[in-house]
Amino acid sequence: MIKSLFRALAAVIVVQASEAIPAPSATSSPETETTNPNFGPVPGLSQLFDDYTGLAPPFPANVTKPVPATAIGNPAPDDALWQNLLAAEWIIYSFYQLAVTTFNASSFTTLGLPNNTFQRVTEIRDNEAGHLRIFQDKISRFSVKPGACEYDFPLDGQATNFLALSTLIEIASMVFLTGLVQEARDDTAKGALTAISQVETRHEIWSLLEVWGVDPFGGPSDTVFPYPNEILDITNRFVVPGSCPHANPPFPNPSQNLPRIGIASWTDSVTVGSTVQLNFTDPDNQPHFEKNAEYYAVFFHGVDVISAPLVMTQRPEQPPNATIPAEFEAKGVVIMVIATMRGAPTLSSVVAGPAIFLQQPAELGIKVI
Ligand SMILES: *[C@@H]1O[C@H](CO)[C@@H](O)[C@H](O)[C@H]1NC(C)=O
Ligand SMILES: *[C@@H]1O[C@H](CO)[C@@H](O)[C@H](O)[C@H]1NC(C)=O
Ligand SMILES: *[C@@H]1O[C@H](CO)[C@@H](O)[C@H](O)[C@H]1NC(C)=O
Ligand SMILES: *[C@@H]1O[C@H](CO)[C@@H](O)[C@H](O)[C@H]1NC(C)=O
Ligand SMILES: *[C@@H]1O[C@H](CO)[C@@H](O)[C@H](O)[C@H]1NC(C)=O
Repeated sequence: MIKSLFRALAAVIVVQASEAIPAPSATSSPETETTNPNFGPVPGLSQLFDDYTGLAPPFPANVTKPVPATAIGNPAPDDALWQNLLAAEWIIYSFYQLAVTTFNASSFTTLGLPNNTFQRVTEIRDNEAGHLRIFQDKISRFSVKPGACEYDFPLDGQATNFLALSTLIEIASMVFLTGLVQEARDDTAKGALTAISQVETRHEIWSLLEVWGVDPFGGPSDTVFPYPNEILDITNRFVVPGSCPHANPPFPNPSQNLPRIGIASWTDSVTVGSTVQLNFTDPDNQPHFEKNAEYYAVFFHGVDVISAPLVMTQRPEQPPNATIPAEFEAKGVVIMVIATMRGAPTLSSVVAGPAIFLQQPAELGIKVI
């Protein structure tokens, strides 16, 4: 019974897949290129992912189409996780590739930054291309490997905008990786995710030291946040709506589509101890607060979680304030969600957010993604 159901389901999947993506023709061989982990430069074995300086997209970013599953069967336990991560990596890689093709060495030296800044940005682009390849290889042949969408980054051609956004993107990467580690089934996946998070942190450390000229350390622990797809949802704002290939799974998968939290434009500071007025920035996706129900602002920093009752204003149109716990050290990153329970112990207890409050560099603290 289960077997025949599965066969029927598999047949449906095959029909849908062949409608969405043309089957590879006998002459072209995208299958061997993208599904064979030994094809092309291999991360860890090739300098391409370290110090390629070209403007053309490095492998595997020179092939942006999704790669269809090549066999029918149950997806591997961590396939959905790696698909989410690969889709996120297309965003991050594309951000750095845009920088490499928009700026040059003098874009950064004119800001008074070291003369190797552009070189470092290029190296980060190369590392991110290596991540694309690693994540493609981690997805089993039973699952599609997501391709690139179109992206829109608010750079306005300014190297300073790029540097600020890059700090936020590296922090967000580190944070969703700490969550994905908790979801991974395979121990080898947990190890790989940890190793990748170290690379994002190395990028971040370089930026804190060389670009921002601040203390690179973020306290004894970076921030652990248990719900990585909520962070991935934030990065989704860089994806041009409707631009993703049809064969891509939804991103993130699953998504709670939570109301986004920003802060009032007049906010001066998001350092620990500050009270900020929240702003639910998407008019089409506002939180719904039940009358007489309790809500909490739940803050994550390091390995700690601090909750405070959310105090509603009298006027329903005005979002509540929240105070970033003064107990936290003024280091690293603080993440806030609004939840129905203290500590936001379950995914479904989260009803809005997250908001990310950067404590370092202080110059960027005001920018919240
Ligand atoms: C992408 O790059 C790889 C490795 O350099 C190369 O073998 C392949 O032909 C390229 N594919 C396309 C479509 O450019
Ligand atoms: C960098 O780009 C600017 C503006 O396009 C150009 O004027 C300058 O010559 C370039 N500098 C280098 C070192 O390529
Ligand atoms: C880059 O900066 C370093 C250190 O300030 C300096 O020694 C070196 O000559 C500079 N290189 C170029 C090509 O300007
Ligand atoms: C809240 O966000 C909306 C949408 O981004 C923006 O138009 C509005 O000015 C913001 N309000 C404040 C007080 O910052
Ligand atoms: C907090 O909320 C109150 C009432 O809505 C508002 O008057 C006050 O200015 C807010 N405080 C801060 C620091 O935003």
